Amino acid sequence: MRRDPNRTPLPCMAAVVSVVLAIGLTGGSDFAQPPIASSAEIGPLPPVPIPSENPMTPEKITLGKMLFFDYRLSGDGSRTCVHCHQPDQGWAFRDRLSPAYPTQSERRVSMTLINVAYNTILIWDGRASALEKQALGPIQNPLHMNQNLDLLIERLNAIPDYVERFRKVFGTGPTPDAIGKAIAAFERTIVTADSPFDRYAKGDRAALSASALRGLDLFKGKARCIICHTGPTFTDNGFHNLGVREAESLKDPRVLASLRFDAKRMGVPEYRALTADPGRYLVTKQDKDFGAFKTPTLRNIASRTPYMHNGAFESLAEVIAFYNEGGGNDPRKDPLMRRLNLTKEDEADLLAFLESLTGELPKVEPPELPD
Ligand code: HEC
Ligand code: HEC
Repeated sequence: MRRDPNRTPLPCMAAVVSVVLAIGLTGGSDFAQPPIASSAEIGPLPPVPIPSENPMTPEKITLGKMLFFDYRLSGDGSRTCVHCHQPDQGWAFRDRLSPAYPTQSERRVSMTLINVAYNTILIWDGRASALEKQALGPIQNPLHMNQNLDLLIERLNAIPDYVERFRKVFGTGPTPDAIGKAIAAFERTIVTADSPFDRYAKGDRAALSASALRGLDLFKGKARCIICHTGPTFTDNGFHNLGVREAESLKDPRVLASLRFDAKRMGVPEYRALTADPGRYLVTKQDKDFGAFKTPTLRNIASRTPYMHNGAFESLAEVIAFYNEGGGNDPRKDPLMRRLNLTKEDEADLLAFLESLTGELPKVEPPELPD
């Protein structure tokens, strides 16, 4: 069972903390705590979960990769999935705002696709859950690829090599369902499981430096990271408001227009009054979820930047300093966020641990696309 801090009643957390204080384990600090979870909870990755309705085959993965790289999936031929999810940028995009469809602006940072196969919730606000269905989202989204699905099917039907490949893999010509399945199968190959931390978790005690080992202890204890970044994928699959400061970018009327447009699509009646990203609220329409975002994986975290849903931080050191302060200012900030009283050495150790989560990724060469 995964810990879900959303459902942990706070008085209960507080009680645990005060018991710990009472038995004197914490050296008198208000913030220090014993490890909250055992290291087993953040052990090596299990095998990639494959849904029974979309088994992996080499032909399907190849087709999915071709579609992932094919410019014809976008309305004007200028955008591909890989445009905003670049292999050498941690399968994300190194900018505070993701690229958008030409003449449009995005309002969030692009997300990494590394180990996305393990995610049970997708998108910063959790509006999607299955990769198969999600893939059709950016294709049609006017902010991303702005393609008409019926037109796309006709365009693919006009390319004999694609028709042949779809037939072989799915027994049909190109369909939206088959496009989603092929792309999802390709995405499930973007896996990294051999980071120094994984080697350590599998028993190679020399795989982590002394500093990274101290960082691991902090991660599980005093720094409280594991409350939310738990399990082998380092996420509770939950949503939290950390009080991340609103990005300057929202002062750009084009970015604000995109934010409001998206909120309208998500059925928020007061969309035109928005001046901040509502996050999870877009899905639940519950006030408590305003400004809450999904807990992202920390695997390969050092290979992509900037951080948070709006790219508020350029470096991991900044992120750690932010947590040390107990997060930002927001009336709805998650009460799990506390001042940590980390020393400079603690911060450096935590950074060394985060850097130990970087593993080798499969090498992906751009495919040849049929005419
Ligand atoms: C123009 C930029 C852009 C393009 C093109 C694009 N994406 Fe994304 N992608 C993003 C952004 C930005 C997000 C975060 C969106 C949000 O939170 O609203 C995202 C999120 C995702 C996620 C969620 C990951 C997670 O862990 O929750 C997946 C999966 C994904 N994209 C796959 C794709 C696929 C497949 C394609 C091509 C069909 C694609 N993207 C095309 C920018 C893009
Ligand atoms: C209360 C839950 C919670 C705790 C505790 C927590 N995190 Fe997070 N973390 C999140 C959420 C939610 C986000 C995304 C927030 C956003 O975008 O607004 C995040 C984002 C991050 C990111 C940026 C990831 C990315 O892809 O942009 C890093 C790095 C990070 N956390 C590291 C840590 C470390 C290190 C600790 C311990 C010092 C920690 N977190 C404690 C929930 C938490």
